[in-house]
Amino acid sequence: MRSLNRLLLLVSTTMVAGLGAGSVAAQDCEFTISGNDMIQFDKSEISVPADCDEVTLTLEHTGELQVEQMGHNWVLTESSVWQEVAQAGQNAGLDNDHVPQGDDRIITYTEMIGGGESTSITFDVSDLERGGDYTYFCSFPGHWAAMNGEFILES
Ligand code: CO
Repeated sequence: MRSLNRLLLLVSTTMVAGLGAGSVAAQDCEFTISGNDMIQFDKSEISVPADCDEVTLTLEHTGELQVEQMGHNWVLTESSVWQEVAQAGQNAGLDNDHVPQGDDRIITYTEMIGGGESTSITFDVSDLERGGDYTYFCSFPGHWAAMNGEFILES
């Protein structure tokens, strides 16, 4: 009887572990990145597992400065064009989140936020190239050179 109880315990533990693995896989497609008042992101790379069809990206601003002074957003493009898009963003104005409007080089972007705020986007990555070369950056004027990172789709 004692060994049967132990067997049942083992079976139920395995089942719980199996359920847990499913929810962990979903969380692997969710990322949080933060920006601060020092013109810094806290990550220089985001690596997306191959089985993610969409990604949820949350941007947090952990600083205190207003959006007009120290705005942060998260813009994604192919790496070959990111600096050109970033420069175009400098003249796009805060009303447009410093993102050039109608520019099809932009894969996705978040709104521009200030200290203490956060924002979140969910976007489709199934059409992006696995193992491709993508870059994210903040397009606030003067920030892109310091605030950028590599966006990797694992193959
Ligand atoms: Co910024």
